[in-house]
Amino acid sequence: MCGIVGYIGTDLAFPFVLKGLKRLEYRGYDSSGMAFLNKNQIDITKSVGKISQLEDLMLSKTHTSKIGIGHTRWATHGEPSDRNAHPFYSNSKKLAIIHNGIIENYAIIKKELQNKGFQFESDTDTEVLINFIENIQQENQVSLEKSLRIALQKIRGAYCILIISVDHPDTIFAARKGSPLVIGIGNNTHYIASDASPIVEFTKEVIYVNDYQIAIIKSDELILKNLGNETITPQITKLDLEITSIDKGIYDDFMLKEIEEQPFTVFDCLRGRLDFKNCNIKLSGVEEFEQQFKQTQKITIIACGTSWHAGIYGKYIIETFCRIPVEVDYASEYRYRNPIIKKGDILIPISQSGETADTLTAIEAAKKDGALIFGIINVAGSSIARICHAGIYTHSGVEIGVASTKAYTGQLTALVLFTLKLALIKESISKQQILEVIDHLQILPTQIQKIIDQKDQLKSMAEKIYAAPNMLYLGRGFNFPTALEGALKMKEVTYIHAEGYPAAEMKHGPIALVNENLPVVFIAPKDNYLEKLYSNIQEINARKGKIIIIANEQDTNALQYTNEVFYIPNSHEILNPILSIIPLQLLSYFVGKLKHLDVDKPRNLAKSVTVE
Ligand code: M6R
Repeated sequence: MCGIVGYIGTDLAFPFVLKGLKRLEYRGYDSSGMAFLNKNQIDITKSVGKISQLEDLMLSKTHTSKIGIGHTRWATHGEPSDRNAHPFYSNSKKLAIIHNGIIENYAIIKKELQNKGFQFESDTDTEVLINFIENIQQENQVSLEKSLRIALQKIRGAYCILIISVDHPDTIFAARKGSPLVIGIGNNTHYIASDASPIVEFTKEVIYVNDYQIAIIKSDELILKNLGNETITPQITKLDLEITSIDKGIYDDFMLKEIEEQPFTVFDCLRGRLDFKNCNIKLSGVEEFEQQFKQTQKITIIACGTSWHAGIYGKYIIETFCRIPVEVDYASEYRYRNPIIKKGDILIPISQSGETADTLTAIEAAKKDGALIFGIINVAGSSIARICHAGIYTHSGVEIGVASTKAYTGQLTALVLFTLKLALIKESISKQQILEVIDHLQILPTQIQKIIDQKDQLKSMAEKIYAAPNMLYLGRGFNFPTALEGALKMKEVTYIHAEGYPAAEMKHGPIALVNENLPVVFIAPKDNYLEKLYSNIQEINARKGKIIIIANEQDTNALQYTNEVFYIPNSHEILNPILSIIPLQLLSYFVGKLKHLDVDKPRNLAKSVTVE
């Protein structure tokens, strides 16, 4: 949700800013812009559309500046346009700003500034902020740093901002609250970005700036302060990230690359955590709080989007194996609905990015009320990871495709490990039952590879359905979340309107959609629901829906209803969803490609939703 980059150092700023924006394009791609300090003036260039359009404009210019900032936008205030693209000048043109976040009280500040004669060229909250800072500076005759501090104390909302100033040609001013900010430390150079992906190529030493901190960044000096003007010692972190993991390599799209990485990412999530010999699961985060887990009477999972679907799966398996009630909430609802949380309750936030604003705020509220926060997070060092008491990293690697794929299977795998560990602590199922799951977990990566090797079959299926305007995805039990996630993938990547439903619930409404043009995907692996699910298949068959079935190998029953059957390897029933989602991800991918869409950057979406 908007990406920001900045460079100050010994080389030209433009190459880093451009490359950095390309790396961050997954965060927002409706418009972009850059600002560079050149001989007593700031030069801004911006363009609506993808970064490549901005690049075309920039390549015809001469670049000499060693200090610059860049922004890729996901629109909040004001339509995507050149006018609303960042950076913005202040009225004097002495300052320029880029911003990721939302200033909630911008309208009232804008009115006050307009009454004082300030002019605005855009509809954005960001242009208001830079003029607010300039106004404080002018009226109080204070330094830019002080006026920044005063302004940040008066605004409400979320921000990560970078400011450059004609009067400070050797400094970038940065600040954050609620939106991520990473600073890489190079040789007499600082690299600034919303996440580490633009930085890793240049340095592995980074500082994660915390909320309510201001960074005063020169090429050879970095000063961190809080809003009370106290200096803070920066904590240097070593990046555990390789440049190869953020390149497409041999692939045309990140989405396919990330789908095909799943045998390895699931393996990485399991690595070192399964102990078949001693029938144990090694999760230090759970072990640290073992007593609290033993005593807990309720777990609440909060998440958004795909991660919320993983949460529903978590509820089904935790309740089945551990016999503890689990509530699953959308983080955006949870944070405002005054939920009942007691000291000792366990809250599990699930997030790929670790930056989702709603999830972050919901955690802060539950933490104040005394809950133990146990995160299931992909991005190490992210804002959510840092505020959890403990948790499990999914180790899915960097996910760049906006539609989440490998992060989802990582979340499901982590939830299985967590459930087994909790069942061991609670002694809620037998060791034999646990060993059966461990046994199947060990072969999961190979089974995922087997599905990927058959992807051509899904390409052929895609050819038969890609023109459909609507689709229905139906599953039951552990595969109800698979239906939700399969439908979300299809919607995001292909713009086909797809609904996911519990299969039996379909009779209570969605069945009205069924005719010979409606593709209906059934997720039907062997489990306790299979017989019931076949009754639902018959109901759709009777109404001539175009049936597609995801079934287990040797389930010849499926062929009675359709030739469009995709077989997945047999597994333990709780692990089926980790396999059954893979063909659905591939189906969406192939439909998206047939429709000539940008599967990595679907319209209107952003990878990391850092505004509420
Ligand atoms: O980073 P998070 O897991 O917190 O993100 C949650 C959702 O924004 C995310 O899953 C979104 O729904 C994706 N576009 C799904 O493909």
